[in-house]
Amino acid sequence: MRVRRRGKTTLPYTALAAGYDAVMAHVDYDAWALYAHILIQEHHTDPQSVLELGCGTGSLALALQPRGPYRYRATDGSAEMIEIARRKAELEGFPLTFDVADFTDFQVDDPVDAIVLLYDGLNYLLEEEQVSRLLRCAYEALRPDGVFLFDQTTPINSLNNADFFEDEGRARNFTYVRHSHYDEATRRHTTMFNLTVGSEKFYEQHVQRAYTLGEVRALIQATPFVEAAAYSDFTRNPATDASERIHWIVRRPAG
Ligand SMILES: C[S@@+](CC[C@H](N)C(=O)[O-])C[C@H]1O[C@@H](n2cnc3c(N)ncnc32)[C@H](O)[C@@H]1O
Repeated sequence: MRVRRRGKTTLPYTALAAGYDAVMAHVDYDAWALYAHILIQEHHTDPQSVLELGCGTGSLALALQPRGPYRYRATDGSAEMIEIARRKAELEGFPLTFDVADFTDFQVDDPVDAIVLLYDGLNYLLEEEQVSRLLRCAYEALRPDGVFLFDQTTPINSLNNADFFEDEGRARNFTYVRHSHYDEATRRHTTMFNLTVGSEKFYEQHVQRAYTLGEVRALIQATPFVEAAAYSDFTRNPATDASERIHWIVRRPAG
């Protein structure tokens, strides 16, 4: 698909940050946070601390932190997204700490009980080696018995929902026009945004890889993590090749 680019091309999640919450208005973060909270509680005996990766503008963090309540640190690779997340948390008085960090290359001073990475973060890693680096960093950042909860979308999701990402919208001084294209041969899902922020125009292109269940399972099996569960969509049913979204829970074994 050829999409006419308007304005300056920026890296993913720079110009988009200003209107990300409007683009995500359809997402029920409270329900997602409840699902994540229940899974963390079920798979860890006493989770006190959470590190969120790829937290975006902090919507999940604001919904998940009070459920523990957890000692909560959230990171994202985009300084623009973190800036908005920090402002939202300050406005609402939430005890959250934010940092800019690449989730394929990070370390923590104080290991945590649970790590979460939700809503497609893993799909932004186009090479398996990057997923392996993410898993290695997460393993090192967990305490023994700590759990890593992350999700992924699959080729079936891209085939079934590509049309959903053909839309446009506005919020205050922000507008977006979004197109998306899924290439079945390479399993790359490209989303193109023409944006206006105030009077300026920007273009962002986001490329994600639709990983299969088997690909991610093989990458996990190559680490010291133990797979605790792979759930289909937002259920407790085991994930299959027909699942659109898979929630994985992997555990760092004690000892
Ligand atoms: C689809 S957004 C999801 C954001 C948030 N989790 C949510 O639910 O709204 C994906 C996020 O992953 C971040 N991201 C992508 N690759 C990253 C990387 N290598 N390191 C850190 N963050 C990354 C992006 O900046 C973006 O905020």
